[in-house]
Amino acid sequence: MKAPIRVAITGAAGNIGYALTFRLASGEVFGPDQPVILNLVEVPPVLKSLDGVEMELHDCAFDTLAGVKKVGSDNLEEGFGDCNLVLCVGSIPRKEGMERGDLIRINGPIFTNTGKAIEKTAAKDVRIVVVGNPCNTNCLIAMHNAPSVPRDRWFAMTMLDENRAVSQLAQKAGKPVTSVKHVGIWGNHSATQFPDFYHATIDGKPAPEVIKDDAWLQNTFVDTVQKRGAAVIKARGASSAASAANAVLDTVKGIIRPTASGDCFSAAVYSNGEYGVDKGLIFGYPLTSDGKTVKIIPGLEHNEFAQSKIKVTLDELKSERDTIKDLLPG
Ligand code: LMR
Repeated sequence: MKAPIRVAITGAAGNIGYALTFRLASGEVFGPDQPVILNLVEVPPVLKSLDGVEMELHDCAFDTLAGVKKVGSDNLEEGFGDCNLVLCVGSIPRKEGMERGDLIRINGPIFTNTGKAIEKTAAKDVRIVVVGNPCNTNCLIAMHNAPSVPRDRWFAMTMLDENRAVSQLAQKAGKPVTSVKHVGIWGNHSATQFPDFYHATIDGKPAPEVIKDDAWLQNTFVDTVQKRGAAVIKARGASSAASAANAVLDTVKGIIRPTASGDCFSAAVYSNGEYGVDKGLIFGYPLTSDGKTVKIIPGLEHNEFAQSKIKVTLDELKSERDTIKDLLPG
């Protein structure tokens, strides 16, 4: 019998948390022979509703669920205690009319405490996926407040953008989503991100050769993916939840499973200066994993259009970093 993996989920009673928790408990991510213990973390006023989530988790009778613990976010050290994976979902969500940048000073301080608690009590092999927006910069704040956790353990979620991009390309090409590979998301999980259609493939051919409509790719496609979060908020009156939860699971799968040849997965990771990005930023790149180590795909060439898009998103991340400089010790 394998030792259980302990996973903390902040914002566990929220919409994303509710869509995430059951699939994590089900064995879908870690496999049918890997027990999972869930630490469900919530702000004290909604902690009570986690009782219902816990009841439902037990009512699923998942073979792989080895335990559930509910913890208030006023006690993050207990919430993250011995956790191998911390999924930082909880934050104040964006409302209609707000840009992610508006959230930066509201959510920043939450991630200071998150980092400190991870530093103190998480397992030595902890990995962290930050979902709460602005996720790149929140991840940066938490990372700086957990100096002993290696930099390559930190991820901010751009997989939702990748999945959106894959789906848009598949629909335009009239192909199933399984035909579309190697869609990297560059930069910030925001309206400046660059969904890289140039290196994407459809049935093994470069996407632009299959779609044969550069104007659509450069404008409609990029725009749709960049603004999809806002479009969902406008339509639903609430931000993406099921698709965001799905993307969290895809991120974890991307990290812990070997990447198929010719493919990549997207997340924002600590930059060592790759592709001219400032060292130390949490920047979205196309990645591969061998199941243990995650690497930024090297050697991709960018044309002028792609370079200009990457510059815009890099500039935005630099300015986000400057806005929260005071929250970055060390
Ligand atoms: C999304 O992309 O749907 C989420 O990050 C929510 C948002 O604020 O856009």
